[in-house]
Amino acid sequence: MTGGPLTVAVPKGRILKALAPLLERAGLDVGPLFADDRRLLREAEGGRVRYVFLKPDDVPTYVEYGAADLGISGRDTLLEKRADLYTPLDLGIGKCRLVVAGPRGQKVPDVPRVATKYPRVAADHFAKKGVQAEVIYVGGSVELAPLVGLAHLIVDVVETGKTLQENDLEVMETVAEVSTLVIANRAAYKLRAAEIRAILEPLRRAVEGAG
Ligand code: PRP
Repeated sequence: MTGGPLTVAVPKGRILKALAPLLERAGLDVGPLFADDRRLLREAEGGRVRYVFLKPDDVPTYVEYGAADLGISGRDTLLEKRADLYTPLDLGIGKCRLVVAGPRGQKVPDVPRVATKYPRVAADHFAKKGVQAEVIYVGGSVELAPLVGLAHLIVDVVETGKTLQENDLEVMETVAEVSTLVIANRAAYKLRAAEIRAILEPLRRAVEGAG
């Protein structure tokens, strides 16, 4: 973990686009993030940093085990994974909500079936309310589940609300507010404090400047 480039785990996909202006404002080298190729490991900052590209769900795992020193992850993913990590900075991007939703005007049964990509978050949410729910994991297109009888409710992220609206679903409760955070491996955060600070501090200023 010590020595060599600082390894930063970056989620592939849409959050990268929102991340780029922040990194640029922080004076960080974003070129390697957008190189048009399939390399999963890319050096930046003259070899002092390397980015590893992962599925968003895998970022906390790599950081928890020290395969990456820092990472970029949504609070929704962190709530579900419960990895043992630091979360030193909220980037204020990727803002959305984790909600319970269901068909408009539907009467919910006492033991609802709930489809979700976030089974632990959903199970905890209903357990806290004293509702005995049957949670069913689905990998995507979650809004479909109530439309075809797989589930009565869903727990999913809502950003604009367009997907819910276009599928005749409505928000019933908010489970958590979500944004994108910088996460850090606990050991690396101490052992590589100076290198991590050199990234975090300009990023923090970029975030504050954006607010
Ligand atoms: C996410 C989420 C919702 C949608 C919410 O899905 O699961 O379906 O975005 O956004 P909105 O409120 O702005 O409509 P994603 O596009 O990641 O695809 P998925 O269904 O494959 O998870």
